[in-house]
Amino acid sequence: MADQHYEWTVVQSTKPLADADREAILANPVFGTKFTDHQVIVTWTEELGWHDARVEPYGPIMMDPAAAVLHYGQEIFEGIKAYRHQDGSIWTFRPTANAQRLQRSAHRMALPEVPVEIFVESLRQLIAVDGAWVPQPVNEKTLYIRPFEIAAETFLGVRPAARAEYRVIASPVGPYFTGGLKPVKIWIALDSSRAGKHGTGEAKTGGNYAASLLAQSEGYENGCSQVMFLDAETGTHIEELGGMNLFFVYADGHVATPSLDGNILRGITRDSVITLIRDRGITVEERLISLDEVREGINSGAIIEVFACGTAAVITPVGQLKSRLEVIGAEDQQPGELTTSLRAELTGIQYGTVADRHGWMHKLAD
Ligand code: PLP
Ligand code: COI
Repeated sequence: MADQHYEWTVVQSTKPLADADREAILANPVFGTKFTDHQVIVTWTEELGWHDARVEPYGPIMMDPAAAVLHYGQEIFEGIKAYRHQDGSIWTFRPTANAQRLQRSAHRMALPEVPVEIFVESLRQLIAVDGAWVPQPVNEKTLYIRPFEIAAETFLGVRPAARAEYRVIASPVGPYFTGGLKPVKIWIALDSSRAGKHGTGEAKTGGNYAASLLAQSEGYENGCSQVMFLDAETGTHIEELGGMNLFFVYADGHVATPSLDGNILRGITRDSVITLIRDRGITVEERLISLDEVREGINSGAIIEVFACGTAAVITPVGQLKSRLEVIGAEDQQPGELTTSLRAELTGIQYGTVADRHGWMHKLAD
C-alpha cells in the first residue's frame, strides 16, 4: 500500500469564525478550549482500508451509541504543534516520529495503522485551510494539533473493530502551565498506577489518561499540578508524569531519565532533549531511577535540577515532590540553568531562530 495515492476532498466551512473573533482567541489562547474551523477525517474499513480522506467543517461527531470506542476505549491519539516563524511560514516538529508512534499505539490497541504519508499530509491539509489559526510566534503560542483514531464500528461484541476513523483537530494554545517558568509541584501517586507490565503504558491511548485522573485530582487537592507515577510492580521506580517525561540533572554533570521500559510513553521531546544534551558533550543515562535515589539526591544536593518535558509542556522545571507521606525539596525553587538553556534551544529550533542541525523541522505552509 506504500505507493497508494490518496485523494483529498476539501469542504470549506460556510461559517468560519470572523477574523476579529479569531484574533481575540489568538491574543489569549487557553489550552484546548477553542478549535479551528475545520477537521480532517479519514475512514478505514476492513474491505477498503484507508479511504475517503477529507477536510470538513469542524463539528460534532455523529456516532451510534453502540460504537465500539464508547464502550471498550479503543482510542489512540497524538499531540504535535504548528509553529509560525518570523517570515510567516508554518512548520511542525518531527511529524514522522509522531506518525510512527501513532502506528505503535494502533498496533497495541488493535486499531489499523494510519500510513505515515496520510498522517503528515493530514497536518498539511488542515493547515492549508486553517493556517490563519497559527498564532504569531510570541509568548510560546502555537497551534496544538490533536490527531486521533477511534473504533467506529457499531457492535457490542468485544473484538477489534472493523471500522475506524482517523481525525485531526487543532486548538491555538499558550503555555500549558500558566504562571511562567515557575517550577511545577508534583504529586507522587502512591495508591494508583497508570500502567503495568505488558499493559498499554507505552501506547498513547485514552485509558491511560483516564487511569491517571484520580491521582491527578489528589494532586490538585494538595497544590500540585502534575502527577508522578511509579512502576506498578514494585512501586519504587519513577516512570513519568501524567503527560510528560522526566529528567534529573546531577551535580557531577550527568543527566538521567527513566529508561523506556514498555510502560512509559516514548516522548518525542524526551528523545530530542537527550540528543540536545548529548550534543553538548553531557552524558545522559537512560536507566532505572528509584524514588529513594531522587529523595536522597535532592536532600544531599547530588541532584540539582529536575525537569519535565512534552509537546504540550515543552520543558518545564519541576519543584517540590509531594506525597501523602512526605515532601521532597524546598518550597521556593528557581528554574535550573540546564533546564532554562535547553528550553531556549528547543523552542528556538521550533520557532526557527536556532539552527535546526538535526533536520527536525518540517514545513507545512509558506
Ligand atoms: N508522557 C505522557 C504520558 C504524555 O502524555 C506525553 C505527551 O504527549 C509525554 C510523555 C511527552 O511526549 P511528547 O514529547 O512526544 O509530547
Ligand atoms: C502532549 O503533550 O501532547 C500531550 O498529549 C500531553 C497532554 C497532557 C496534553
